[in-house]
Amino acid sequence: MKIAIQQREGGFTERWVAYCQKNSLDYLLVDCFSTDILYLFKKEKITHLMWHLNHASSKDLMVYPYVMNTAENMGIKTFPNFNTRWHFDDKVAQKYLFESIDAPLVKSDVFYEKEEALTFLDKSQLPLVAKLKRGAGSTNVKLIKTKAEGVEYIQKLFSEGIVPTATALGNFDQKLRVAKQIKDPIKLAKKTIGFFKKNKRERTLAHAEKGYVYFQEFMPNNDFDIRIIVVGDIAFGIRRFNNENDFRASGSGKLDFDVSKIDLETVRIAFDVTEKIGGQCLAFDFVYDRNREPKIVEVCFGFSMKAYDACPGYWKRDMSFVEEKFNPQNIMMEKFLKE
Ligand SMILES: Nc1ncnc2c1ncn2[C@@H]1O[C@H](COP(=O)(O)OP(=O)(O)OP(=O)(O)O)[C@@H](O)[C@H]1O
Ligand SMILES: [Mg+2]
Repeated sequence: MKIAIQQREGGFTERWVAYCQKNSLDYLLVDCFSTDILYLFKKEKITHLMWHLNHASSKDLMVYPYVMNTAENMGIKTFPNFNTRWHFDDKVAQKYLFESIDAPLVKSDVFYEKEEALTFLDKSQLPLVAKLKRGAGSTNVKLIKTKAEGVEYIQKLFSEGIVPTATALGNFDQKLRVAKQIKDPIKLAKKTIGFFKKNKRERTLAHAEKGYVYFQEFMPNNDFDIRIIVVGDIAFGIRRFNNENDFRASGSGKLDFDVSKIDLETVRIAFDVTEKIGGQCLAFDFVYDRNREPKIVEVCFGFSMKAYDACPGYWKRDMSFVEEKFNPQNIMMEKFLKE
């Protein structure tokens, strides 16, 4: 066995490497953007490939299918595997995924023709939730409250489109919150400069989203969303509260780790859907519909690593709760290497 791990600053990578070192596993940090990457896999006799895909990197999104699909063709096991990754950071793909297995997705509609989108808008009850395929932290999720707003949005998506990366100072509150957590001023200065550079690069390189519109039915009266993450055979979760006067919870930073408040139906759905999909690691966001039934709004392979360290425990597949500290990145590896 020889594990190739895509080099990435922060994220799951550092814990995967620590796991390999602790368990004396043969591993290699690799650069999947190198033009010779497949030759390297052959030369090094790589058996497993792991990549903590970054939703904020257009480069990751462009290149991962090339490398991971072909690695699989070469007999290399991949994490995330095909079923976990093909819909990564693509809410439109997820609509098809969930419909194919009858999962309880909030009613979602996609249109690839402007006229059809306008007709749909005309006969829809407002508000509607409009989303781009890409995005996190609610950046590209918007409430369409009037017909005029809807028409403007549709026109835009069928003309110049919308760049999915927020401007450097967009979502300022979220960024300020992250910055405040860095106590060392030199580190903060370095991170800030790094962030501005990365943001400029992303805004230049990201394709504008266009040629489609994606709407979801608006689920009213949700003060929070519920995020359940399934990793291997366990699940854990939190509630995220909305910012004041905002229907969106993601990105608010108002996290609640009290597991007694988590609706177990969401945990059951997350386990069932992951099993049906054949997923290795999936984070589901739920809100309630008008009948107080939980509905999925989206799913994602990755999640912020450190935030969930505060979870007091996890559920097993039989829905029993285990109150203990755990390391999801180790669990990923254990299960993946056993596959
Ligand atoms: N159809 C909906 N009805 C009501 N609220 C919704 C709906 N869809 C999303 N929301 C709210 O908006 C937030 C952002 O939506 P969503 O999770 O789809 O976007 P995101 O930017 O990809 O988030 P993440 O950071 O979790 O990846 C959710 O956390 C939820 O609170
Ligand atoms: Mg979300």
